[in-house]
Amino acid sequence: MEGEQKLRITMIGAGYVGLTTAAIFASFGNDVTLLDINKDKIEKLKQGEVPIFEEGLGELLEVARPNLTFISSWGSFNSKTELIIITVGTPMKENGDVDLTSVEKVAKSIGQKWSNGSQPIVIIKSTVPVGTTYRVKEWIEEELKKREINQEIYVASNPEFLREGLAVYDSLYPDRIVIGTDSSHVQDLLKRLYSPILNQTFPLSLKLPIQQPDHQPKPVWLVTEIKSAELIKYAANAFLAMKISFINEIARLAEKVGADITEVAEGIGLDQRIGTSYLKAGIGWGGGCFPKDTSAILNQGKEKGIEMSLVKATIDVNQKQKEWVISKLKEALGDLKNKEIGILGLSFKPNTDDIRGAISIEIIEKLLELGAAIKVYDPIAIDNFRKTYPKWKIKYIKKIEEIFEHSHAIILVTEWKQFKTLPYGELAKKMEDKIIIDGRNLLDIAPLIEAGFQYFGVGRNYS
Ligand code: UDX
Repeated sequence: MEGEQKLRITMIGAGYVGLTTAAIFASFGNDVTLLDINKDKIEKLKQGEVPIFEEGLGELLEVARPNLTFISSWGSFNSKTELIIITVGTPMKENGDVDLTSVEKVAKSIGQKWSNGSQPIVIIKSTVPVGTTYRVKEWIEEELKKREINQEIYVASNPEFLREGLAVYDSLYPDRIVIGTDSSHVQDLLKRLYSPILNQTFPLSLKLPIQQPDHQPKPVWLVTEIKSAELIKYAANAFLAMKISFINEIARLAEKVGADITEVAEGIGLDQRIGTSYLKAGIGWGGGCFPKDTSAILNQGKEKGIEMSLVKATIDVNQKQKEWVISKLKEALGDLKNKEIGILGLSFKPNTDDIRGAISIEIIEKLLELGAAIKVYDPIAIDNFRKTYPKWKIKYIKKIEEIFEHSHAIILVTEWKQFKTLPYGELAKKMEDKIIIDGRNLLDIAPLIEAGFQYFGVGRNYS
């Protein structure tokens, strides 16, 4: 941002996206205010704590801190800023629809607090159903009208594609930056904001413990219609989930015909039209985004009379993967009542303590229903799990070896790196029955078989 004027930005919502993006923009020298009505979270941030587990975020916040102000009330909001970026949550309702309560509240608050004469651009970064960006404009305008302020409002959609656990990396090295707008003024300002990322010219102070990618091309700057930008986000997540469900379905066939899914995935992924990523077979995808966004796009289709059969099948296959685990256990152990089952991994994927949409949840719930005795281990997600499911009768294990003691079976649910190199030979001796379900195809099969384990992987050839 050298030589360029700093931008004044207000971001609303300090979740994974809001906090990381605020820190990135502030570390580029912009003046960023981050508003979140969760007082606890803002207090922690003010005191230098990092409320989420994200690689490099602590270091990034240190660089960003001089340019970053945290506020927890609309009383301190100032609309005399160049950009307002909305990053509040859009959770899933019971029926699979998107809950826009927070987005609506924020839009209305912006309208109520708007000072006459200011002209910020309002950017929607939250994942929202197609058409919401225009709704946000209307909500703001309705409030302005009540206050007899007549002003043109600029809105734009700027979806976010970062992955949890890799939020800082993905923010600095994205494949593309998508801007949905019909205004050249908006385009110019956002191009200025993103120029350090677009040109890969980060400030020298930004030294992070994050490995730079090799030969990564510069991000593509893609300007689209507002509604296209909104749909791009849903379509991207649905496609990635579909790729995983596809390989999981092929894995089911591989198991039956005696092929090995890791070899099959490599063989098809090397075709550049297909690509190798998101082809890791396992017991299903989870997280704060894929489950919510696939349901949301399905429902948006339904509303418009479009049957999204591929998205529906994507969700159905994912459900079957979870059921597969239970059926394998039953196959190996018969009745699961009073059987001791150890669960390795609770978070929805490694390197995060997030358990939203985690496959562990449904598996544990089903096993409890069947009367099994459950022990769980996770390097960092136990606190979150305990807080979310305080009534579940499960044993939280701190020493990983203890999960094997007297167990009838172990299910590896999350592929934490440390699970790969456990002394399985020794641990097998502590077990009642030596059954292991490798839900992420993480483990080397031969030593397990040698240690006497009955091994089940997802579509792997282990006979
Ligand atoms: C996802 C998208 O990747 C990101 O672009 C978007 O902004 C938010 O949603 P995230 O939820 O952080 O990101 O997780 P991701 O790393 O994509 O994994 C999602 C799920 O798919 C996890 O449960 C993971 O275990 C599973 N997965 C991923 C597989 O089962 N196989 C794979 O090959 C890849």
